[in-house]
Amino acid sequence: MKASNGNKHTLADSGYTAWLSYPVLPQGNAYNQYVKWCGAVKVAEENDTVQAALQEWQRGIESMLGIKVSSKPDGLCIAIGTFQGGNELISGVFAEDTLAKVGPEGFAIRSSEENDCIAVGASSPAGVLYGVFHLLRLIGSLQSIEGLDEVVNPVNGLRMINHWDNFDGSVERGYSGRSFLYEDNRFTRDLERIRDYARLMSSAGINAIAINNVNVHALETLFISKYLPDVSRIADVFRLYGIKLFLSVNFAGPMHEGEVGTADPLDPEVRKWWQSKAAEIYAAIPDFGGFVVKADSENRPGPFTYGRDHADGANMLAEALEPFGGIVIWRCFVYNCKQDWRDRKTDRARAAYDHFKPLDGKFNDNVILQIKNGPMDFQVREPVSPLFGALERTNQVIEFQIAQEYTGQQRHVCYLVPQWKEIMEFNTYAKGEASPVKHIVDGSLWGNRYSGIAAVSNVGNDKNWTGHLLAQANLYGYGRLAWNPELTAEQIASEWISLTFGTDPVVSGVISRILLDSWEIYESYTAPLGVGWMINPEHHYGPNVDGYEYSQWGTYHYADHRGIGVDRTVKTGTGYSAQYLGSNAEHYDSLEECPDELLLFFHHVPYTHILHSGKTVIQHIYDAHFEGAERAAELLSMWTSLKDKVAEGLYLQVENRLKEQAGHAKEWRDQINTYFYRKSGIEDNSERVIY
Ligand code: GCU
Repeated sequence: MKASNGNKHTLADSGYTAWLSYPVLPQGNAYNQYVKWCGAVKVAEENDTVQAALQEWQRGIESMLGIKVSSKPDGLCIAIGTFQGGNELISGVFAEDTLAKVGPEGFAIRSSEENDCIAVGASSPAGVLYGVFHLLRLIGSLQSIEGLDEVVNPVNGLRMINHWDNFDGSVERGYSGRSFLYEDNRFTRDLERIRDYARLMSSAGINAIAINNVNVHALETLFISKYLPDVSRIADVFRLYGIKLFLSVNFAGPMHEGEVGTADPLDPEVRKWWQSKAAEIYAAIPDFGGFVVKADSENRPGPFTYGRDHADGANMLAEALEPFGGIVIWRCFVYNCKQDWRDRKTDRARAAYDHFKPLDGKFNDNVILQIKNGPMDFQVREPVSPLFGALERTNQVIEFQIAQEYTGQQRHVCYLVPQWKEIMEFNTYAKGEASPVKHIVDGSLWGNRYSGIAAVSNVGNDKNWTGHLLAQANLYGYGRLAWNPELTAEQIASEWISLTFGTDPVVSGVISRILLDSWEIYESYTAPLGVGWMINPEHHYGPNVDGYEYSQWGTYHYADHRGIGVDRTVKTGTGYSAQYLGSNAEHYDSLEECPDELLLFFHHVPYTHILHSGKTVIQHIYDAHFEGAERAAELLSMWTSLKDKVAEGLYLQVENRLKEQAGHAKEWRDQINTYFYRKSGIEDNSERVIY
């Protein structure tokens, strides 16, 4: 199979080539250094993944430097390969103790004057690929490649993308067109696009992709039987790029094809059914990753039907996959969407913890719990899920949402890396003073067999993959952060900008500012002080203060003429604050200590309550919405300053989206300010017009 080339300029202009556009580099010292070393490459292995790395290298270098890469070195060169792959340059450059430090997916890179080469070595072909992408990234961002001597290993084992693509071609919460995996209940025939997708994912560090929606419909239930050959073709492409394929499965699978009359996880027939399915799958896809399961939530089937618990359900599947090395990723997004909360004690936020904390230690070794970052559902602001820290004897991964369901749906810019960073740094106090989420997620805090990060994809069949071009930064940034959570949001933004738009510092400065301010701006004109859900029901786009879809029981945030917020304290509220450990519990429970940005998540307060900022709640709402809308408009003027500096195709895409955002931010401002002005009857102290 050949990687697609097409007309490079058209593709780059459309955004299709994304951060693998390899823009031409400016002449200068850095350029000269690259030309000196990169004119030739030495590769000794036929392995498909190593060959894919070679192709990528040639493609990148030829595009960035405008030179041909020879594969017959005669002087300085780049050497690429596994340590055992027979490339004498690789074996000559790395010392024994370096080899010992390179993990299964890591790589070593060393510039060696005495060997006349820069060597990229790894213990696996996937590591070679990651190493090559690393070197290309250094070049693409004008960093020196001389004096390199480092070993780089991914921090997180599982670095996963979850597609919510449906077989009919729709994408649940998809904001970039339709699926590029399926069309009208058929698998795509465009394997070139799948390959380009795999290149993008692998270059960002992704090693696992679940290709279908967690809500598994009738035909998708057949992915593990009738459609296995199609699934296998996708797995073949992914494999080239070091990516394992996972499938979301339907817990009621055994009943679907009418073979077994129940899905009871303790029923021997059911267990046998899953075991034989596992054998069939592994016969077709020997390195199949495993299953992703959403059970007993939002009308999905699950073990509760049979009076069994989630451990019974997950372990049954885990036993079927264990002989083949597969894993079960069991989601903790389990709650009763029909619950009546009028007693002001019942609280959806409590659900994941209440369901899963009692099961800690009961899951098999090849089960991983997948926990959404917050207790609710990917709001622009929520606290970190208290399950992080509560599960000491259970494999777990954190789940982020790259798709901007509640953060502007890829029509507004909202760079989410700063949010994810904040979550990863959150101290759970689970094991002493320094127990940040990132160390639970990377497995080091509890010494888990499996750990890592998963996230809901934001890609579709739009030419530029993500609808909003700037939303590519979230996709790239997610992968980079999963690989190394120590990277800063600024570093990731700046890498992405150079690799996508080139290295002009003016362009970089402006886009970086837009990205880094965007989450704060989006938050300020949408939901204030952690309250969440002020969004239109069902499709979740645009303002609607009382819009929570399960609101048959009243307003979700309890706003009335006196005040607003959800009382989640122990004494008078739902008691949710007690799910946290140590000082976090006290902090959130206390009206005085609770941070402003989460005040309304934890407390019900009068509009006149004074925040730490010194403002009243109502004045904060007015100010934030006026300022947010103004700042959204400024994003557009910042972008227009780049008109002649960015390729027209890319420029126009972003300009259009930012125009929409600027207009829509005003709608948010007006609806929210008006609602609270009318509810509270309190004037804005700056006497701005509130309609
Ligand atoms: C959200 C989202 C649903 C999705 C669910 C999930 O509720 O709106 O579309 O199915 O999350 O994570 O399972």
